[in-house]
Amino acid sequence: MLLYSFAHLRVTEAPVANNPFYRHIFPYIKPYLHVVRIMTHVLWDVVAILQSLFYFTDSSKQPCSRNKMEDPWQKAYDFAVAVAKKAGEEIRKAGESEIRVMTKSSTVDLVTKTDERVEKIIIGSLKQEFGEGTHCFIGEESVANGEPCILTDKPTWIIDPVDGTTNFVHGFPFVAVCIAFAINKQLEFGVVYSCLEDKMYKARKGKGAFCNDEPIQVSDVKDIHKSIIISEHGIDRSPEKVTKILSTMQKILCIPVHGLRGSGTAATNMCLVATGAVEAFFEIGIHCWDIAAGAVIVQEAGGILLDVDGGPFDLMSRRMVSANNDVIAKRIIKEIEIFPSARDDAPIEEK
Ligand code: IPD
Ligand code: CA
Repeated sequence: MLLYSFAHLRVTEAPVANNPFYRHIFPYIKPYLHVVRIMTHVLWDVVAILQSLFYFTDSSKQPCSRNKMEDPWQKAYDFAVAVAKKAGEEIRKAGESEIRVMTKSSTVDLVTKTDERVEKIIIGSLKQEFGEGTHCFIGEESVANGEPCILTDKPTWIIDPVDGTTNFVHGFPFVAVCIAFAINKQLEFGVVYSCLEDKMYKARKGKGAFCNDEPIQVSDVKDIHKSIIISEHGIDRSPEKVTKILSTMQKILCIPVHGLRGSGTAATNMCLVATGAVEAFFEIGIHCWDIAAGAVIVQEAGGILLDVDGGPFDLMSRRMVSANNDVIAKRIIKEIEIFPSARDDAPIEEK
C-alpha cells in the first residue's frame, strides 16, 4: 500500500524545484517509478484474486454457506439414509429370532411386530429431527391403523418399514426399508435399503442414483426380445384379477422375452431396473409406500415411469410401469390387462 502511494505521489506531483534531492536524485529514479507503479498494480490484482478465491472456498464464509441454505433438503436426505440403515439393522436382528406373523386385509396380507416397531422407529426419529407439526407422514402400518393416506403440498415422508414382509416371514432374502420425501406433491429423494443384501440405494432429484455410493444406470436395451421383465402378483387373490395378471405374464413371456422375474419387493424390483439388471417392472395393486422411493431412484438412473395405460405416472394410483426407456415400457404396456384397483387416496369406504 505504502509503495503504491509513493509511486503515485512522486509521479503525479511536481517536485519541489530547489530541494537537492529532487534536483540531483529524482531525475535518475523517475523512469523506474513508472515500473514500480505498474508492478504494484499487478501485485494488487494478484492479492485481490487470491482473496476472492479464499473467500469462495472457505466454508465459513457467506457465499458457500448461502449455497447450503439454498439446498435445505440435503440434511433430510442424509438423515433418511442413516435412519434407513438403522431400520435395516433392526430388521436383520429381528429375523434372527422367531417372527410373530399376523394378517391384515386377508390371509396372504402379512404383517409382523417388526413392521410396526420399525415404522415407529423411523417416524419417531424423523419427527424428533424435523419437528412434529411441519412435516407429514404416510407410513404403511400407520395407514393400516387408520391414519390418512393423502399427499398434500406439505413436506411429506412416505415410508414402508418392511417392503417384502412375506419374504421376511419366509426368510426369502429380499427385504427393503423404503423412505421417500415429497414436497409440493413432487418426490424430492428416495432411499431403499435392501437390508439382507446390505445394499443402500438412494437418489435425489437432479443428483443421480447410487447403490452403496456407486452411480447406477438403467440398461440401454431397446429390443424387448433381449429383456428381462419383472412383475408381481401382489396380495389380491380374486380369480378374475389373478387370471388377468397371469394372462399378462403369459403374453409378455411369449413375446418372447429373455425372462420373467420377481423379488417379492416392489422397491427392490425398481432398484433392479435402476441398476440395469432388468429392463422393466410393472404392477397393478402396489401402494405409494412400496414405490415412492424407488420412483426417484429409477428416474435418476435414467429410467422412466408411466401409468399402465401409457399415461403419466401417478403415485397414488396403485399402478405403475417402471422401465429403462419408453420403447420397452410401451411394448410392455401393449400386453397389460388392466383391472380396477382403488386409489391410495380414495375415501376409506371406496377401498
Ligand atoms: C408388497 C411387495 C410386493 C408387491 C405387493 C406389495 P409389502 O409390499 O412390494 O412385491 O407385489 O404389491 O404390497 O406388503 O411387503 O410391504
Ligand atoms: Ca410393507
